[in-house]
Amino acid sequence: MSLIRLDGVTKTFAPPSKGENAVVAVDDVSLSVESGEVCGIVGYSGAGKSTVLRLVNALEIPSSGTIEIDGTDITRLGERELRRLRGDIGMIFQQFNLFDSRTVAKNVAYPLEVARRPRAEIAARVDELLRFVGLADKARSFPEQLSGGQKQRVGIARALATSPRILLADEATSALDPDTTQEVLTLLQRVNRELGITILVITHEMDVIRTLADRVIVMENGRIIESGKVFDVLSGPQQPATKRFVASIIEDVPGGDQLRALHARHPGRIVTFTIRDGDVTQGDVFAALSSHGVRFELIHGGINDIRGRVFGHLTLALTGEGEAVQRAIDAASAFAPLIEEDVHG
Ligand SMILES: Nc1ncnc2c1ncn2[C@@H]1O[C@H](COP(=O)(O)OP(=O)(O)OP(=O)(O)O)[C@@H](O)[C@H]1O
Ligand SMILES: [Mg+2]
Repeated sequence: MSLIRLDGVTKTFAPPSKGENAVVAVDDVSLSVESGEVCGIVGYSGAGKSTVLRLVNALEIPSSGTIEIDGTDITRLGERELRRLRGDIGMIFQQFNLFDSRTVAKNVAYPLEVARRPRAEIAARVDELLRFVGLADKARSFPEQLSGGQKQRVGIARALATSPRILLADEATSALDPDTTQEVLTLLQRVNRELGITILVITHEMDVIRTLADRVIVMENGRIIESGKVFDVLSGPQQPATKRFVASIIEDVPGGDQLRALHARHPGRIVTFTIRDGDVTQGDVFAALSSHGVRFELIHGGINDIRGRVFGHLTLALTGEGEAVQRAIDAASAFAPLIEEDVHG
């Protein structure tokens, strides 16, 4: 049984003003997240990502469709059951949403105070959580004395206070610089692997998906347009929006102006080989080219690590005697799919 399950969920908001149409924020969305998995939802602004998260923790009620957490239909819960559900779901935000007037320790303690846990238990739990996120020495600091990355680590500690099974992350790294982003993503990986917490992360940054997620769902205009294992979607995107997201982190096959510019700088034939993990390596391609005595230079593209698997496009300029170059290309394309675009096309 899936831990989170949405079935035909639509969420409509009242029109912003009279005479306008209602806003369909989420449109017939069905998805499931398995226990222990990291699932990412990617989409541009307004795609409906945050609304999906707010539906999952019952901050919004669907206009139609059903939402189940661990087999329980959450759209029919009473107040008391809702409180229990929310204790089982932690959430972190782009702007951290810390209480400025509370110390770090008091921020982390907050959900436990609300749950009326005994004081000694709260102190021990806060201690444990701050050590887990590496901020034991900041217990008495106030949020304004922390960096963005440290604030988000406090946010994560607070979200974990009630030992939830699910963590929802809404653009949790979008306000952070690249180094700090990696630090927070590494911590989220530990949350998943060491604590076994299921994570649903929404983002408009494909790099977050590549680093963290097992599976990705792409949303556009309230709908799911594509989904699958992260490696499969990144190495073979189908929809135009997905292709644009993937192109932001993986160098594409050059064409048009880019290809013309490459030709202007490099003599010879320009070809692109696709390396998709498993049987093919760059070494196989280079060895096949070398054995035919042609010179080659890598002029574009590269290899990407997608969750431990290899994918990328290698664009090479080949120089040498015409027939030898053709034989070299034939030999190398036995290993890796070849693309040679006509510069005039
Ligand atoms: N409470 C609300 N009332 C009216 N419209 C809303 C409400 N919440 C969201 N919307 C609308 O629903 C659509 C989806 O919004 P949502 O916040 O889910 O998108 P998002 O993918 O999270 O975007 P972003 O990347 O900008 O955060 C938008 O058109 C938004 O204006
Ligand atoms: Mg949002």
